[in-house]
Amino acid sequence: MTDLLARAYDPEEFRKQGHALIDRLADYLGTVESYPANPYETPDASLAAFRKLLGERAGADEIFAGVIDHSVHLHNPRYMGHQVVPPAPLAALGDVAASLLNTGMAIFEMGRAGTAMERIVIEEFARMLRLAPEAGGFLTSGGSLANLTALLAARSRQWPEGDVWQMGSHAIRPCLLVNEQAHYCIDRAVRIMGWGAEGIIHVPTDRELRMRTELIDELVVDARKRGLTPIAIVGSACTTSTGTFDHIDALADAAARNKLWLHIDGAHGAAVRLDPDRQHLTAGLERADSVAVDFHKMLLSPAITTGLFFRDGTDAYRTFQQRAEYLLTAESSEEDWSNIARRSFECTKRMLGLRTFTLLSVYGPELFRDYVVRVGELGRELGRQVRRHPELELFMEPDVNIVCFRFGHPTLSATARDGLNQLIRTTLTESGQIYLVQTRIDGEVYLRCTLTNAFTTSADLSDMLARVASVGHELLQLRGNLRE
Ligand SMILES: Cc1ncc(COP(=O)(O)O)c(C=O)c1O
Repeated sequence: MTDLLARAYDPEEFRKQGHALIDRLADYLGTVESYPANPYETPDASLAAFRKLLGERAGADEIFAGVIDHSVHLHNPRYMGHQVVPPAPLAALGDVAASLLNTGMAIFEMGRAGTAMERIVIEEFARMLRLAPEAGGFLTSGGSLANLTALLAARSRQWPEGDVWQMGSHAIRPCLLVNEQAHYCIDRAVRIMGWGAEGIIHVPTDRELRMRTELIDELVVDARKRGLTPIAIVGSACTTSTGTFDHIDALADAAARNKLWLHIDGAHGAAVRLDPDRQHLTAGLERADSVAVDFHKMLLSPAITTGLFFRDGTDAYRTFQQRAEYLLTAESSEEDWSNIARRSFECTKRMLGLRTFTLLSVYGPELFRDYVVRVGELGRELGRQVRRHPELELFMEPDVNIVCFRFGHPTLSATARDGLNQLIRTTLTESGQIYLVQTRIDGEVYLRCTLTNAFTTSADLSDMLARVASVGHELLQLRGNLRE
């Protein structure tokens, strides 16, 4: 044993570092409004700052302070950027315990506590989201991986004998139908599975970018005529860019008529099932064969924590028909809930369930409902404020906490308006005071907010819109001056 090793594992050193860190984080939470929402810096500046810390052999406390200073502040109510929740602090504490214990979760023998909690979290959320009574599933590392895993299960149900697993799928040419606005990870999943560009059929959308479900039957017939084998429909609840919910009931009808698997990417919006006022948005979710739900978007957990639910929980055992003799010794696909690697892509996995289990136990399911209701109200409020503003244009009435709008001016061409909105976003981002993002809808630039911070107020929203308009005017003025 070296002195250095002994020091790195010393419980008293850990206690000191831990207390200092918790004090620092609690102070941070208490004063986060005084931080800029987005302390803008270039990648090179960030790299230099951390090289300097290492060069100086900075201590733990100095490093943690540096990490806070160089980060975007999700806990600041003026954070309105990407769809990542400021986690409930207790869930973050659980991560410290999980990291220290580091038990991994491939098999029960190794990850007992995590495995038990994960099953309970899945059962509780299947009930809270009102999925089918026989629903089951597991937690996995992100929506992208959950979507890929669900599609592998769909493929496996189509060819249950394992022939695709053994022979590949080039002779069969599988494909799926999806909203062209779906998250890019669906396209990636198709290509990872080796289906190529022909494996993804985009269903045209309506004005609010909802799949036109009445076109599905025709698209399936056409795909079959071309020698493809459609195996699934993927619906979005909701789309990333605009927060649009596909009509799940109509998708479930189309899937049943055409004997296709229905997967719903509910990474962002499936949680609206917890809001009594918004349940219509996901009507039919219980009919989907599989549903992905990101707990790090709308369910208060640190990234990344995703639930993958199957209507028939035993479908999850179809996905991987592989065997790893040293780990999974039970007979092939028989149900074996406690050895999660049988169903999950990951082998070693973090103790993901602890984050949600702690919140469920300490605060109860109402906490999740309160959050979803609150950020949904903020979405509506921002929609109202944009509509009232003479120079701002709302893309669609927000159903959830994603809101897209743009600054317009009657004198601007479409290209100039795009350029101006892009510049507004860059100027605001570089000012650091507000964090919002941008998206393209039908090729045109919109500003996009995701209201993930439950402490954002109506005044924060009006202040943000006033800044958008004022920067818009300044830029227009500058443009006018340059022309003169
Ligand atoms: C609808 C949707 N699906 C999937 C993803 C990817 O999820 P993750 O980042 O957890 O992999 C996102 C992320 O923004 C999303 O909005």
